[in-house]
Amino acid sequence: MLNVDEIRKDFPLLERVVGGRKIIYFDNAASTQKPIQVIKTMEEFMKNHYANVHRGLHTLSQEASKLYEEAHEVLAKFINAYSWREVIFVNNTTEALNTIAYGWALWNIREGDEIVVTIMDHHSNMLPWRLVAQLKNARVKYLDITDDGYLRYDLLDQLITEKTKIVAFPLASNVLGTINDAKRIARKAHEVGAIVVADGAQSVPHIPTNVRELEVDFLAFSGHKMLGPTGSGVLWGREDILEEMKPFKVGGDTIKDVTLDAVVWHDLPWRFEAGTPNIVEGVGLAEAARYLTRIGMDNIHRHEEELVRYTLKRFEEFAGEVKYYGPLNPADKTGVVSFNVKGLNHHTVGAALDLFGIAVRTGMHCAHPLHYRLGITGTVRASFYLYNILEEVDYFIESLEKIILLKGRFVEQVPRRVCTGT
Ligand SMILES: Cc1ncc(COP(=O)(O)O)c(C=O)c1O
Repeated sequence: MLNVDEIRKDFPLLERVVGGRKIIYFDNAASTQKPIQVIKTMEEFMKNHYANVHRGLHTLSQEASKLYEEAHEVLAKFINAYSWREVIFVNNTTEALNTIAYGWALWNIREGDEIVVTIMDHHSNMLPWRLVAQLKNARVKYLDITDDGYLRYDLLDQLITEKTKIVAFPLASNVLGTINDAKRIARKAHEVGAIVVADGAQSVPHIPTNVRELEVDFLAFSGHKMLGPTGSGVLWGREDILEEMKPFKVGGDTIKDVTLDAVVWHDLPWRFEAGTPNIVEGVGLAEAARYLTRIGMDNIHRHEEELVRYTLKRFEEFAGEVKYYGPLNPADKTGVVSFNVKGLNHHTVGAALDLFGIAVRTGMHCAHPLHYRLGITGTVRASFYLYNILEEVDYFIESLEKIILLKGRFVEQVPRRVCTGT
């Protein structure tokens, strides 16, 4: 299992004091802290190798280009892609999904076609499809969930039809934590010739990823949720589909040649990395992937499973005061625990936990339709990662106990109907 004491030493921010004690950082589904190895790699790159990539013949540009290309290779290996050319560096998951929507869907969706997404999708994997559908007079259909937070696989047969051109879903939910059965969805979608888009924002950082086994056509994920810097992320796609796909952003670096009449697009992946890319961030992301690989993604999943199991066990002490949302079996989910405290607004609970030095996220977590489906206006979300420990869960439970005891004394936070949280 994980040597968490050693791991924690790699994360300077975990020394921060908030609320009179070392911070308990339970907001990992929104973004994770950065290990010193990532920080140092980026610093070293900027100090000694920094230059723009691709174009220069000078030494620095050659070095920077090599490191930036190697970063693609590291990420390709991390998800077991067939080739690093299938790995496009993007800003984040949102950009990756929009790249597919405007590069593939806009050119292939016709009037009357259908796109299937799920009710548990993050807005980033819902709104791009809705806009494309609107532009093309196509229709978006939603796969529902069960009351305990699993996808309704039994509805796939009736939802996915000959009209379906895209099936998009999260590999793991950012609210319920549910790990979805990608193969089952992909096989059904492929039967009717649809392309399959997997949002890996909440799975790639937490469980092993093997794109060859997932059987999906596209995968999107963010670097900042897997120990990497903001401004880094990956769009992976099947090479044959990427070859056919149009670039969504065009300009410098996307071409081999341009005349006034014609364009010859660049090789993969550069065709899709328009303009000067986030070079430093790409190199930092590769270091994050190396770090996670050294720890072992299986180990990370097992560690989160233990934290969730323990949290849910301790929730039992609250006897009806705390309502949990999502699968009860920790093996079926990532380290996300969303809940509400009876009689208290989620924002009030989050603000109160902050007084105890515990960082959680509150709101609808950019998944409004899911919350409406659950009949609630928001949740408190504690989300764990490799550096969290059982003692932190104990302190979190004790703090919740106090908050529940003091319930009547809180000035309720005004609920904000905004996309709080990611
Ligand atoms: C499931 C899921 N998809 C997409 C996103 C969007 O990620 P980003 O904000 O990095 O683009 C998030 C962010 O929380 C997410 O949880």
